[in-house]
Amino acid sequence: MEPKYIFKVGSVAVNSTLIMAPMDGLTDHPFREIIKQFNPGIIFSEFINSYDYINNHPFLAQQIVFSEDQRPFAYQIFDNSAERILQTALFLADKKPDFIDINMGCSAKTVSSRGAGAGLLKEPEKIKEILNLLTKNIKIPISAKIRLGWDEENLNYLLISKLLEDHGCSMITVHGRTKKQGYQGKANWSAIAEVKKNVKIPVLANGDVNSVADIQKILDVTGCDGVMIGRSALKNPWIFAGKDIDQISMIEKFNLLSDHMDLMVQFYGLKNGLVLFRKYIKFSLNVTTLQREIRTEIYNQTDPIILKKTLFSIMESQTF
Ligand SMILES: Cc1cc2nc3c(=O)[nH]c(=O)nc-3n(C[C@H](O)[C@H](O)[C@H](O)COP(=O)(O)O)c2cc1C
Repeated sequence: MEPKYIFKVGSVAVNSTLIMAPMDGLTDHPFREIIKQFNPGIIFSEFINSYDYINNHPFLAQQIVFSEDQRPFAYQIFDNSAERILQTALFLADKKPDFIDINMGCSAKTVSSRGAGAGLLKEPEKIKEILNLLTKNIKIPISAKIRLGWDEENLNYLLISKLLEDHGCSMITVHGRTKKQGYQGKANWSAIAEVKKNVKIPVLANGDVNSVADIQKILDVTGCDGVMIGRSALKNPWIFAGKDIDQISMIEKFNLLSDHMDLMVQFYGLKNGLVLFRKYIKFSLNVTTLQREIRTEIYNQTDPIILKKTLFSIMESQTF
């Protein structure tokens, strides 16, 4: 009997429609260890800058760590040079991810203005070159994450999605906004539906999924194979298990935050681990309403046990 799966990225079987989004500075190895407990269908790395590989950036060694139980796992690469993307992909493919994703959607000025991320949407010929080089030289599947276009006047998602499919891309994620929109306005789910109709390869719908109810809505509207969830999963990793945040007890939330802190300290060491952990705290409790001294206490605390006690008492007193 054929094993059960929801869809395949090339030969890679995916067992859940719910996919964890790549998020720079956030979806690192410790965070992915937290997320994988909720069994998303695919887990992506943060985007990896080809230049960091080419220049042997010391940060890269930690950025590319993943564990077997994060599979199916994909590295995501961004750059504006097909040749550098290929060099980076060859290096990363050696680490045995399940597939490699190319970022064609990042709207950050530092990325898109140099023709990388969403900047690639302006250069269909370069996208062809990237896909041609990668599919010829890399054995594992290649996927891409796009936006709808550069701006409202240049909505080329149908052209780009077809071109990706025709050049060997195995899956497309569509964030239903333009580069110009950044994160403003509502994601256009109808446009994502057009992409799904336009190609035969799997398509993931992305943008503005904030609750379990939204998951069914976006699947109904777009007809997509899966749903990629980003910001909501930071606040509510349980969304991958079909639960909204108000169904989660304060103790469960605290325990997860506490496990995350431990993983950060194990992975990055005590000092860096706690510094990097700080940016996740705001997703689990309401930091803005805290008195300044308490915020300072949270952000300066160097003892994980005391920090946990402080976080516990805040979470106990807040309904967040
Ligand atoms: C802080 C942050 C970092 C992000 N980093 C990446 C990234 O590295 N690669 C990528 O393809 N998208 C990145 N994104 C975009 C998300 O993957 C996703 O497309 C976007 O947040 C919309 O989905 P959402 O409404 O579910 O959050 C990032 C988004 C945020 C908020």
